[in-house]
Amino acid sequence: MKHFLTVNDIESLPDWVNEAISLKKNPYQFEGLGKRRTICLLFFNNSLRTRLSTQKAAMQLGLDVMIMNFGNEGWALEYGDGTIMDQGTSEHIKEAAQVVSQYADIVAIRAFAGLMDKEKDEAEEVVNGFARYATIPVVNMESSVGHPLQALADAITLKENETKKRPKVVLSWAPHPKALPHAVANSFVQMMKMQDADFVITHPKGYELNAKLTQGCQIEHDQDKALESADFVYVKNWSSYSDYGKVLSKDTNWTMTMEKLGNAKFMHCLPVRRNMIVEDAVLDGNQSLVVQQAKNRVFSAQIVLKKLLENL
Ligand code: CP
Repeated sequence: MKHFLTVNDIESLPDWVNEAISLKKNPYQFEGLGKRRTICLLFFNNSLRTRLSTQKAAMQLGLDVMIMNFGNEGWALEYGDGTIMDQGTSEHIKEAAQVVSQYADIVAIRAFAGLMDKEKDEAEEVVNGFARYATIPVVNMESSVGHPLQALADAITLKENETKKRPKVVLSWAPHPKALPHAVANSFVQMMKMQDADFVITHPKGYELNAKLTQGCQIEHDQDKALESADFVYVKNWSSYSDYGKVLSKDTNWTMTMEKLGNAKFMHCLPVRRNMIVEDAVLDGNQSLVVQQAKNRVFSAQIVLKKLLENL
């Protein structure tokens, strides 16, 4: 693996999940692997879990960590080829990516979708720009279209809580006041397609995800029907993909409640809007896995960094 950019870079999901669970039992077993190596974490957007879990994972592997809030502190980057840079951008990604490569052995990047221009978002100019021009491995810490470290943590959490060989897992849309990207849902769908599970996606009409990703998945617009006999319910908001970046509904009938959840385990990547996405009773009850998911972000990052370090 040269870079870790999408769920498809996971060479074997079951092997990586088992290895991550083993790392969780003994997090410092490879603490010499990153000695005298450096990872640079570049954030173009806010974070709590990704920033701290990736830093912790790196430290447990013995890496030195440099963090920069690039969105506020870095120069405005230019991505276009041959652009006359007489407008707002100060530095081209060609130089920026090569310069970061002089200071670090791995670079990890968070750069969300702008949700204004689908084509631009899908070009993934920040993460793909770094992958193109950096001379070191690039890790996706959530890009416009994917959040593979989250999906890997979710796979670890599913494995730790599975009570049957082929569980029913439901991905349910829920309302949110703001337009949110598709990245978490996209990567969760990609990851679930690698699992032996009865997987169902439920959302109001108009909230279809990219059909290329959901091809072959069961989609049910009746949330109650989708939730029948579920073992795990992963709740997430995303904005419309067809009417790109628009909020078409804030219908709180889609909010997850204890009644709807039944006996299923509740999952969400966090941060979560209480009593909008999910009612308090679910988050505060013992069927919620959200904190375990957040903890597993350390071990999803650690397994990815370990694989990259072994390849250096
Ligand atoms: N789930 C997740 O990526 O959390 P942060 O946005 O806080 O990093």
